[in-house]
Amino acid sequence: MSSFSPQFLDELRARVSLEDVVGKRVKLIRRGREYVGLSPFQKEKSPSFTVVPDKGFYHCFSSGEHGDVIDFVMKVEGLSFPEAVERLAAQAGMEIPTDSPEEREKDRQRQTLYDAMDVACAQFQKMLRMPEGKATLAYLHGRGLQDATIERFRLGYAPDSRGTMKGALAREGIPEDLMREAGLIRRPDDGRPDFDYFRARVMFPITDKRGRVVAFGGRIMGKGEPKYLNSPESTIFQKRHVLYGLTQALKPARDGGRIVVTEGYMDVISLHQAGFDFAVAPLGTALTEDHLQALWKIVHEPTVCFDGDTAGQKAAMRVADHALALLKPGYSLRFALLPSGEDPDSLIKARGAAAMAEVLAATLPLSEILWRMETQGRMPTTPEERAGLEDRLARQALRIGDSTVRAHFLRAFKDRLWNEWREAGRRVKAEGRDRRGAGRDRRPSPHVDIPPAVARATGADPLRGAQQVLLAIVLRHPDIFEAEGERLGTLGFADAGLDRLRQAVVGILSGQPDLDAAGLARELAAAGLTAESDALLGEPLIRHHRKIAAGADAESVLATWRDTLETLQRTAFAAERETIKERLAGDLTPDGWRRQRAALRAAIGDSEG
Ligand code: UTP
Ligand code: MN
Repeated sequence: MSSFSPQFLDELRARVSLEDVVGKRVKLIRRGREYVGLSPFQKEKSPSFTVVPDKGFYHCFSSGEHGDVIDFVMKVEGLSFPEAVERLAAQAGMEIPTDSPEEREKDRQRQTLYDAMDVACAQFQKMLRMPEGKATLAYLHGRGLQDATIERFRLGYAPDSRGTMKGALAREGIPEDLMREAGLIRRPDDGRPDFDYFRARVMFPITDKRGRVVAFGGRIMGKGEPKYLNSPESTIFQKRHVLYGLTQALKPARDGGRIVVTEGYMDVISLHQAGFDFAVAPLGTALTEDHLQALWKIVHEPTVCFDGDTAGQKAAMRVADHALALLKPGYSLRFALLPSGEDPDSLIKARGAAAMAEVLAATLPLSEILWRMETQGRMPTTPEERAGLEDRLARQALRIGDSTVRAHFLRAFKDRLWNEWREAGRRVKAEGRDRRGAGRDRRPSPHVDIPPAVARATGADPLRGAQQVLLAIVLRHPDIFEAEGERLGTLGFADAGLDRLRQAVVGILSGQPDLDAAGLARELAAAGLTAESDALLGEPLIRHHRKIAAGADAESVLATWRDTLETLQRTAFAAERETIKERLAGDLTPDGWRRQRAALRAAIGDSEG
């Protein structure tokens, strides 16, 4: 009779998925956080067999059977306990620990390691409340942590001393080799006696899922290297498995169905204190496969929220990259994008929990991150570049291990590419039409965004109104020209005065992109265009347009610019179509038809057939 260690059995239960194992035997239907199916133990017509993955057990209401994944395999396969364990371990790719004296010794040692860690944690906590810990406590308070939070995360203080911890552990009867194994003391190279590993640091105990302390992270007070010193790995601590804060986050995450992965210790703690008690972090490493699998056991779509700096964004991309091979139907990741330069801790501090809530509400799916990664925010225009992009996106999708998920990603990328290109084609055509149509008379069109009340009050031609708005935006906010002004150079305005102004503005700002509104006005005056510019800014449509006023914020100006451009293009298109239709109606000879058709094609930039 072999006896497996509780650690081994825990690990086994954590690694195999109950719903997968049961799913091989019973056809399961998802119902909220549970699965139901027909009982494998009894004939029945309506499903009474329930699997609760979060809790790791199944229950059969018709037979009263109840158990975990090991019980299930024993029952349905008719195996003994060790046989079931062996079978599941083989499926999970886990090695069966031999029941050797060494193995038992290891178990015992593990147990004592946990003891040592716990003693150390209590000691660090105690030191934080001693006079020596005063500065550290003040530091934590200064960073906005409340006492309840400090208690909850068992934060502590390692004094600047070589022997305090060693002495405290010795008094509790912990032998030196165990202290060393736990990474609490360290033997120096120069042959002097062992001394405390953590000195003069704020201590963050790292716990496992069950809440046992398995390691520490120690932060230097103020500046210095390394900023965080982590315990060395041991039989109870492997970085790639551990998520900081999981002890505290597990229940809230399960209850609320969401978990957020961030980067740092302080981020986790600040998030919890601000009410986001479902936050965890890897320990300064990339998110590993082990992490992802553990997260997916808790919720189906964990959210990754990394720093808004480039390193953080790169880390997020690496996670996206890494997750692809591991995706399964129904399991994915979402990404929350922090403002540049912020981490969750600094964002909460600077702008409050509400700002953080906004960030967490606006998450992007994994597919969107991949899209952004490959497009870098711009759509290629040449066929060569387009083929390259299509190919890169397909390659990403092909790395997805699961065939169903893979097919959906391939499909989604393809659809989106075609949509984007169709849209781009429309935009280019619309611009071409407007350019060619310059100087021609325009009629009002029904496709107009300018509020009817404004249009009535001003008696404005909507096309002209849109052109005035664009020009007025550049006059008042010339800094928009650098990024957006290119369009202004290609749009001809029908009104001669307006078009002169447009050409002058484009000419001036192309040469002096740094001009402010006053500087631009001076240049226009020098060009003899003050009257035109004053007339434009004096128009009621412009005077009453608050979103483009001199004091309007850059975001609303930019939004108005884009909306107006779009209106302009739509309006120009409709007007062009009307003109051509009219001309077509007047000339119905076969030759006339051919001529007009060619004109229509040319006008919309269509070169086909
Ligand atoms: P950060 O430098 O972003 O730390 O590293 P932080 O959590 O924001 O810390 P504060 O706000 O400056 O106090 C992110 C994480 O990377 C790991 C730690 O887990 C840290 O929380 N790290 C960082 C290390 O392990 N060692 C280091 O030297 C630095
Ligand atoms: Mn920070």
